[in-house]
Order: sequence, then C-alpha cells, then structure tokens
Amino acid sequence: MKHVLSIALLTLMFYGCKDQNTQEKQEQPAPFAIETSSEDLTDAIQINTIQVGSETTNDKNRFHTSYPSTAYDFINTHQEAFAQAYLKEFQKNIKDDNEKAVAGLDFGQHFEIIESTPSILAFLIERYTSYGNNYNTQYFTHLYDLEENKRLEFSNLFYPQENFDKLANIVKSKTTDILTEKINAMEGLTDSDRTALMKSTQEMIAQGTEPTNKNYHAFSWDASGNLTIYFDKYQVASGDHGNIEVQLAPETYKDLVAKKYQYVFHIKAEETDIATPIIKDTTTSQKVFDIDCSKEPCVAITFDDGPAKHTSQLLDILKEHGVKATFFVLGKSAKIQKNTLLRAYKEGHQIGNHSWDHKDLKKLSEPDILNQIQNTNEAISEITGADVHVMRPPYGSFNEIVKNKAGMPIILWNLDPLDWKDRNPEIVAQRMSDAKTNGIVLAHDIHKSTVEAMPAVIKSLKAKGYHLVTIDNLFSEQPLANGKVYNSRHK
Ligand code: NI
Repeated sequence: MKHVLSIALLTLMFYGCKDQNTQEKQEQPAPFAIETSSEDLTDAIQINTIQVGSETTNDKNRFHTSYPSTAYDFINTHQEAFAQAYLKEFQKNIKDDNEKAVAGLDFGQHFEIIESTPSILAFLIERYTSYGNNYNTQYFTHLYDLEENKRLEFSNLFYPQENFDKLANIVKSKTTDILTEKINAMEGLTDSDRTALMKSTQEMIAQGTEPTNKNYHAFSWDASGNLTIYFDKYQVASGDHGNIEVQLAPETYKDLVAKKYQYVFHIKAEETDIATPIIKDTTTSQKVFDIDCSKEPCVAITFDDGPAKHTSQLLDILKEHGVKATFFVLGKSAKIQKNTLLRAYKEGHQIGNHSWDHKDLKKLSEPDILNQIQNTNEAISEITGADVHVMRPPYGSFNEIVKNKAGMPIILWNLDPLDWKDRNPEIVAQRMSDAKTNGIVLAHDIHKSTVEAMPAVIKSLKAKGYHLVTIDNLFSEQPLANGKVYNSRHK
C-alpha cells in the first residue's frame, strides 16, 4: 500500500513539474501543496491514448491505442516508442493498401497491469489487428526493474542460458501435448493425415519454442507463481488453432529462475502486494433528480473511451461548475484507473458501458460480444458497487445480438462535435455549444483538447438556459427500455 502512495506522489511531482514548464501563465500551486481530501483518489498508473481515424462510422481505417503513463521516464519513453511503432505500421498499411481496403484497417492496443510493486512494474499489452473482418491478437510483456531502471526480458529472468534452454524444453513438451490433443480431436482426418499434420506441427513447435526473447515476448504470472506463456498465432501451430497459451506451475520452473529475480514470480515468500480494497457503496440507487427534464431544457453530455489520463482534470472542471455528465467507459481502462472511475461515480456522474477494449462488436461472435459487455459491467460494479444499466457500443456500431442480448438500452447521440478529428478546444467548444433541448452530446475524455473545451461549453450552454445532466436524469420521466436505441429524449 505504501509504495502505491509513493508512486502516486512521484506521479504528482512528475506532472506537477511538467505543468510548470508548459503553462507559465497559469498560477500553479506549490508542488507539494496537494489538496488534502479524506481520501486520495489518484491513480499511480494512468492511461495515454492515441486515436486516429473515425470514431463514429464503420467503413474507415481506425487506430485506437492506449498505453501506460507512469512516474518513471524510462518506462514512459519505451511505452511511447512502442505505441508509435504500431501507429507507423498502421499508417504504412493505409498507404500500401490504399484503394484495396474494403472494410478498413482496425488497429487496437490495450494493456493490463500484471504486477506493480516497489521493485518491478509489469504490463501485459494486447494488440488486436484487423485488415478486414477478423481480429488477430498478439500479446507483449513489458517488465521493468524499478531499482535498476531497466527493462527485463525473458532471458534476464531465466539466466544463465542453460536455464533458459531447460525452460524452453519444458515449454516445448507442454506445447506438444496441447497440440497433440487438438489434432487428435479434429474430425474428418485419416491416420496418415494426422501423422503428417503432427509432423509439420512438431517442426513449428521446435522453432516457435526455441529459447529466444522473440519467442518469449509475452508471458504473465499470478500471485501463486503460475506462469503463462502466450504464443502468437502461427508461432507454434497453423492459424486455425488460434493463439496457443502454455501454463506452468511454479514447481516445474522455479529452479530455473535467476536467483536475483525469483521474487518476481513470488517464488520466495516475500511481502505480497495486496490490492487496495475498494469499499462498496451498496446503497440502492433510488434516484431522485432535482431537475425535471420534461419541464426544463436539458442536455446530456457524454464522454467515451476513458477513464484515462485527462479524466481527473475533466472531473475538476465538472465539479467546479456543478455539472453532471455520463461516462461510457472501457472495462479494461476502468480496471487500471479504478480511483478515477470511483471518483467520477462518487461525484454524481453516471457510468455506462463502452465495451471491454473498444472492438467493433459487429465483428465479434455472440459469446465474445456478451463477454465484452458482461465483463465491463462486472468491472464497473466491482469498483463503484452500483449496477450499470446503459451502454454505448464503440463506433456506435451494433447488431441484433447487441440489441437483444445486452440487456441494456443503447445510448447514441444527436450531436457529434468530431472532437476525435479536430483536436482544437475552440472548434470543439463551438460545435458542442450547438446542443439542442433534450439532446445527447458525444465527446471523448481521452483527448486533452476536449477537456480543455469544457469550461467554454458549460458556460455557453448554461447561458442558453440548459441544465447539463446525466442520461438517467435526462430520461427520468421517460424510462429507457432495454434493447432500444436512443439519440435524444423525445419531446
Ligand atoms: Ni469510443
């Protein structure tokens, strides 16, 4: 717990310094004069986002990537470069594919925290890449030694090479078992088909499990030291077997881990990092609103794709102006910026579901769609203690499965200020100020420019007599129905 706070302090110092350099005019509080409230809802690790291409239509090339922002410069530099390299790949493919692309490119990157202690920080990065209809998933592990300020690769952990060789042999045999079972389960094969397939697969396994950092670029572990190795599609088997994962119990590999790094996998019973318990506010929300939108002019402003790095600043602005909004959040991001989400909820904003990791739901199977929705609802409820009952699918893209099986109303918008396209606060403010009575405004709190536009938007809409309210408040006299699609409140 202590280290979490110290990282939070470092983060504050880091950004505090940065702000002082870039915003000379604005008066800054002294670096250590942190506003003291009864609880600190700052997140030590925050989310940076790069979003390119259309956020709201189906037929364009899209890039939606998030990566960690930490208190450590060397980590931030590495993460920035990694994300930029993916962006370059996206841009190159747009050029290469220019006119051929029909469904469009869809590149996404998200991450989760594997471990955060005073000594190490580890992220599992997931990229999903689509050149048309299907997503290809790829994982990467970025593990950092915070004492020596350097990145660790798999060969650093399984050192010397002899140990890495032994580990690779264990993985090879486990992978062979997995694929033998899969091939035996395949229907419509003769014995000789099966033998031939197994032979070619053996060759792929031998190559794909060789002890190199390239082969072992993705791995994660749990609190009991169970290690998972993630192979790319086509790395150890043909594509129809998808992404193969191999799991190793600690007793199978613990003697091969370099002494120095045994603690990484919890092999030595060291002090374990206990997640901050979040106190649930289980009071049933019998919502009563001060404003009756059937009698007074209302507008609901909604923010998608967070929580992320600029969300806290946005919450400050909304608080200062006494305005409530709705946040359609990603489940994956909610798990990383738990405190930010909890703060938004506690300050009276509504939290809605924007899927787990911003995939186009229309490209997914029914079970995958339901997982995207249910896992996100669970992640949000775990943090806020409240149920989620509104959703907005990424890109406003949905099908009958989403409508009929998600069990929530689909909330779209009737004003898109194109804040994902024009990153200019003045332009965004001007467009958002065009909101009409009963309208729903789309915005994205991943963009700094959108957050910076908000004071002007609030001022202008208030001057026109509008109350800025949550979706629940907007529809309080006109209940929302599950499976229905809403762009605004009816008159
Ligand atoms: Ni979105």
